[in-house]
Amino acid sequence: MADKEYTDPERMEKIVSLCKRRGFIYQSAELYGGLNGCWDYGPLGVEVKRNLKDFWWRRNVQEREDIVGLDGSILTHQAVLTASGHVGGFSDPMCDCLLSKARLRADQIEPQSGTAYRYSGASEGEWTVERNFAVLLREGQNENKARKTARQYYAQFHPNKSLSPKSLELQGETTSQEENTTSFNPENGSLLTEAREFNLMFKTQMGASSSEDDPNAVAYLRPETAQSIFTQFKNVLDTSRMKVPFGIAQIGKAFRNEINPRNFTFRSREFEQMEIEYFCRPGDGLRLTDEWLENRLSFYEEIGLPREKLHVLDVPDGERAHYSEKTYDIEFDFPFGCQELEGVAYRTNYDLSKHQEHSGKPIEYFDEATKEKFIPHVVEPSAGCDRTVLALLCEAFDEEEVVDSKGKTETRTVMRLNPRIAPIKAAIFPLLKKNEDQVRISREIQKELGRFMHVFYDETGAVGRRYRRQDEVGTPFCITVDFETLGEEDPDLKDTVTLRHRDSMEQERVAIADLLPHLLKEIR
Ligand code: GAP
Repeated sequence: MADKEYTDPERMEKIVSLCKRRGFIYQSAELYGGLNGCWDYGPLGVEVKRNLKDFWWRRNVQEREDIVGLDGSILTHQAVLTASGHVGGFSDPMCDCLLSKARLRADQIEPQSGTAYRYSGASEGEWTVERNFAVLLREGQNENKARKTARQYYAQFHPNKSLSPKSLELQGETTSQEENTTSFNPENGSLLTEAREFNLMFKTQMGASSSEDDPNAVAYLRPETAQSIFTQFKNVLDTSRMKVPFGIAQIGKAFRNEINPRNFTFRSREFEQMEIEYFCRPGDGLRLTDEWLENRLSFYEEIGLPREKLHVLDVPDGERAHYSEKTYDIEFDFPFGCQELEGVAYRTNYDLSKHQEHSGKPIEYFDEATKEKFIPHVVEPSAGCDRTVLALLCEAFDEEEVVDSKGKTETRTVMRLNPRIAPIKAAIFPLLKKNEDQVRISREIQKELGRFMHVFYDETGAVGRRYRRQDEVGTPFCITVDFETLGEEDPDLKDTVTLRHRDSMEQERVAIADLLPHLLKEIR
């Protein structure tokens, strides 16, 4: 059983650095100091993301008769999100650090124990300030630390901004023992404000003439892709003639004004979701939730996340979203701990009922078999595309000691990405860039394979170095055109190439004519 508490910050640092160095993921607006919680996918990252989305779409839409697709608008009518409960309730509890002004998610603060040093104010000569403040000291910390922190806090109210906090006299010091409190900032011990609700949606104004106060002009960037599926349910039903049970799938951007974006792309403000709303009869909801859970676990295994690193959390009563009667969180062992990858939720008929009620239009389904009318229930497997990409990158990253051709030991960095997901499927090298025949044949192979997959041509540097460059970005196959390909060493080997496998580093001879079927089998 894996240790769910285990973290490896050093490994995570290496992954983030590789992502930037090799063009997987960059901080958004890095040129201007970065836009917090937003990320840009570089030339390799965009391929990984696209491969993941294409594979998800193929498995969930194209290979199934009971699921159809949708691409809804990102800008969302406020009535939709009022009906769904997002306008009134899509919020996180937030509090502020009185000292640093950092904003924290109140429900994510680790409980701490220690001695709270409390003050009623401070003075300096004639000047005084009366405000309650406190600092939590953990066992073994010196009480002067509390006084220093308190002086820093009170100094911000002094009119002389260059005054040393040391000149302040603290007022009314008392202490109390605190057990498992979440009222102090774990970073600096400072007291936090009371928690208050913070709506996570991005609000915007629509139309050229809109004024900020015009309620009719308000729209939101969608916080989940699900709502356009619910509001288009009737249209899809009428135009596609699907019969319950059936699903509507969507991949697209969602936006949340997260209080604390963190862990690289894991919690972002702009991210992509891959969601299915699977509509069913009321009595089938719980069974289908279990079935979807298994289906989704298999999917993750198919793209290279091992089963032993995936954990299922049966979310207890009181912790599920307001619409859910049952939720499983699929969690993955990231280097920063075991965290949610996907939620599989039984949303009952909550959303369709709400949209029927608020719009005043019938959204019922007529069952031909039983001649009954009902509002379908729904099971929702909702995956994060960016989180899955991150999990795949974290899982793929590896460093191993290898001995080079000169007998020297070196560290090989290799991204062991599943070939389905790898950004470049095959790299093609002429052994010598000055050999015109090798270059010509390599270019022909590049052109032929490039019609079916993303390939890369490289002729610079020693072949060993070219292999290493490809290992680092996860290219599963390298193809080298050499003298044997030209038939110069052995006529039997004419028109064959060296196919080198990334993970084992083994090499085999393959006929050029067999390359395409061979690779297609591996990457599909
Ligand atoms: N429609 C249901 C829904 O949106 P959710 O658990 O809030 O449920 C589903 O989100 C998935 O979307 C999560 O499991 C996660 O993979 C992804 N996700 C949610 N918030 C995210 C964020 N701030 N950054 C990246 N991915 C996020």
